[in-house]
Amino acid sequence: MDLKTLLAPIADDMLGMDQIIRARLSSEVALINEIGGYIVAAGGKRLRPALVMLAARALNAPSVEEPRLLAAVMEFIHTSTLLHDDVVDHSDLRRGRRTANVQWGNEAAVLSGDFLYSRSFQMMVDVGRMPVMQLMADTTNAIAEGEVLQLLNAGDPDVDERRYLRVIELKTAVLFRAAAQGGAILAGATPAQEQAMARYGHDLGMAFQLIDDVLDYTADPEVSGKAVGNDLAEGKPTLPLIHAMRAGTPEQAALIRAALSGGGLPQLDEVLKAVDATDAIPYTRALAETYSLSATAALGVLPDSPYKKTLHDLAGFALTRAS
Ligand code: IPE
Ligand code: IPE
Ligand code: MG
Ligand code: MG
Repeated sequence: MDLKTLLAPIADDMLGMDQIIRARLSSEVALINEIGGYIVAAGGKRLRPALVMLAARALNAPSVEEPRLLAAVMEFIHTSTLLHDDVVDHSDLRRGRRTANVQWGNEAAVLSGDFLYSRSFQMMVDVGRMPVMQLMADTTNAIAEGEVLQLLNAGDPDVDERRYLRVIELKTAVLFRAAAQGGAILAGATPAQEQAMARYGHDLGMAFQLIDDVLDYTADPEVSGKAVGNDLAEGKPTLPLIHAMRAGTPEQAALIRAALSGGGLPQLDEVLKAVDATDAIPYTRALAETYSLSATAALGVLPDSPYKKTLHDLAGFALTRAS
C-alpha cells in the first residue's frame, strides 16, 4: 500500500498540519522564505507528524488543534536537521532536488535550519504543555548528540554494532519516539499508554533508520530522491558495512576498513560486492524487522481503531519502503 492510502484516516489532519507549516514558515527575510518554501514544496513523507496525529487520534485526543500544531513542530525540527545533516554529509540530492547547501551554500542552509529549529520552539510554546516542552527539549538535545557521535565515528572501522545502534537511536529514533509519545500526551494518555507509544515510536524509528542505511547502498536515486553511496563517501560505519567486516574474509574486511578510513567511493563497486557476498543487506533488514515487530507489539494497549491499524501498517511500510 502506498503511503497516501495508508494515511487516509488522517488526511484532513495532514492538510491542516500543512496549512500550519505554510503559515509558520513565513519570515520578513526573503531568503528564509525561499529556502523554507523550497524544501517543504519538495514534499517528504511527513511520517513524524503522522505519528503525532495517529497517536493522538488512537487515544481520542479531545482537540485536534494541539496535535496538528505539534505535528507541524515535528516536521520543522525534522526539516531543520535535514538542512544541517546535508551540510555535514556533503549531500547534493534530497527529495529529488538539489540540496539547499548546493543551491544556496552551506552558510544559508545552516542558518535557515536554525530558523526552522527556533521557530519550532516558538510553536511549542503555543502548544503550551510543559510535559511536551520537556520531551522536545530532551529530544532535540539527543539528536544533536547523535549527529556529533556519528561525526566522531566517521572513518572509524572499529565502530561495532552496539555503537552504531546508539547513534541511530539518538539521531533518528528519539524523534519518532517523541512524535508518538507527544501525541499520546496531548490525548491525556495513561502512563502505560504513553510509555507504549514511546516504545512504538522508538522501535519504528530504529527500523526506519536501519532501512535508510540499507537504501543508501541499494536504492534507485530516481525513487529515493537521495544519492547512493553517500554513507560510504562520508566514511560512515553503518550496519551493512559493520556486518560485512565481521562476516567477510580477511580480504573483504581489509577492503572495507580501508574504504571507511580513506573515504572510499572509488571502491564502491568492490565494497558492494563484499556487502553482497556476506548477506549484510538481509542481516540489516532482519534487524529492522525485529524492531518493526517490537513496535507492533507495543500497540497492544490501544483500543481498536483505523488509527491503530495505520500505526500497525506503518511498521510494515518502514520495512518495504523504497523512498
Ligand atoms: C530522512 O528522513 C532522514 C532519516 C532519519 C533517515 P525521511 O526519510 O523521513 O525524510 P523525508 O522527510 O521523507 O524526506
Ligand atoms: C539522518 O541520517 C539523521 C538526521 C537527519 C538527524 P542520514 O544522514 O542517514 O539521513 P539521510 O540519508 O541524509 O536522509
Ligand atoms: Mg545524511
Ligand atoms: Mg541515510
